[in-house]
Amino acid sequence: MSSIVIVGAQWGDEGKGKIVDVLTEKANWVVRFQGGNNAGHTIVIDGVRTALSLLPSGILRPNVRCLLGAGVVLNPTVLLSEIDRVRSAGAVISPGRLVIDRDAHLVLDYHILVDKARELSRGADKIGTTGRGIGPAYEDRSQRSGIRCADLLNPNKMRERVRAHVDEKNKLLKYVLDSKAYVDFDVLWERLSQEAEILAPFVGCGSRIIFDALRRDEKVIFEGAQGVLLDQVHGTYPFVTSSSTIAGAATVGTGIGPKMIDSVIGIAKAYCTRVGEGPFPSEIDGALGEDIRKRGHEFGTVTGRPRRCGWFDAVAIKRAIRTSGIDSLVLTKLDVLSGLPAVKVCVGYQVNGEYVDDLPASLEGYEGLIPVYEELPGWSEDISAVRSLRDLPANVQSFLEKLSALIECPISFASVGPGREATIPVEVSDVLRAFLP
Ligand code: IMP
Repeated sequence: MSSIVIVGAQWGDEGKGKIVDVLTEKANWVVRFQGGNNAGHTIVIDGVRTALSLLPSGILRPNVRCLLGAGVVLNPTVLLSEIDRVRSAGAVISPGRLVIDRDAHLVLDYHILVDKARELSRGADKIGTTGRGIGPAYEDRSQRSGIRCADLLNPNKMRERVRAHVDEKNKLLKYVLDSKAYVDFDVLWERLSQEAEILAPFVGCGSRIIFDALRRDEKVIFEGAQGVLLDQVHGTYPFVTSSSTIAGAATVGTGIGPKMIDSVIGIAKAYCTRVGEGPFPSEIDGALGEDIRKRGHEFGTVTGRPRRCGWFDAVAIKRAIRTSGIDSLVLTKLDVLSGLPAVKVCVGYQVNGEYVDDLPASLEGYEGLIPVYEELPGWSEDISAVRSLRDLPANVQSFLEKLSALIECPISFASVGPGREATIPVEVSDVLRAFLP
């Protein structure tokens, strides 16, 4: 049995897709276990860039099978267009190679309208959601009224349930959210009934499939979406997503027990970014923040929104390490920092004159918060072509050592570019080594 969970250790967009791709050469399964098409990951193979939002990153490896687990919320229209796109790039996507868990919930048109109308009604207090209907879909799941992939197998029953939802959500939009948007049931149903027919053969029992695969000693990668700091409970609430993004969600969102996970890998940028609203203690305002955004191409894969940029926050990462049981960290986009005279790392916060070493419990705790930084020497060399630790400039090696000491966690790989080959092994455990070519 060999299984790893890969989670983002910051606020998302850490480069998980690339790292999952690097580790999938020998994997049998890649499993998405939470979130939906609010996620976006870009994979670059031989210079060709593929952006995915729902399909697991393993889909581009012909020998890897992929599961959209029970914890995912799935927009069928988006999934089908992504399947078409990836098929036209040459990938074979057939039932059996791609499995959609019967217990995953659907994101339908009314979820998107409610998401957008809610954001508008929040005004200045908006969360900055991706507007993909993710929150409202999880709300329906919690209310025990959601439409699941299992329903795709029984269109007659599903029809009546979707109709009831459309009636209810149209009332919510009109009378509560004061929105002019509404869903036309006939239009939605005509499309959804066709989609149900195409997707039905892909629907299966993910929990059983992965349980059996692990018992057969197959290799499984659980691919998290977003980042640990966006976790609905353990993140910077209320500026969080609606699913659980910590590593434990891999078991809940797949339907396997925690003892079946061998190791947890966190992915973090050598700096830090955040999209949407919410606390970001180490955010860099002004020209330097803008400069890092440009160097790192920090614009959302899904929404195109500019990402806020800041320094590596060791305090926040330690929270991610703790809440997800991260065994080692992969540091990405190290090349983006080349050329800066100095790089900073946030090591604590001052709040009302007191030193604090964890993210505050509530939004009020961020008022007047001052980040405490350690400054390290930068490096001028372009490191994007470096392929081994010993060939990295001394200042980069010291930066890696310093970070590892500060967060009390080994760094397993350093990534210096978007391609598979630009991944430098640093301290690689036996569990991880088993996934390498
Ligand atoms: P939602 O997930 O669309 O409800 O958005 C809630 C918050 O999570 C917003 O701040 C989004 O910008 C953020 N978010 C959601 N998905 C991602 C992601 O994949 N990367 C980064 N931020 C995300």
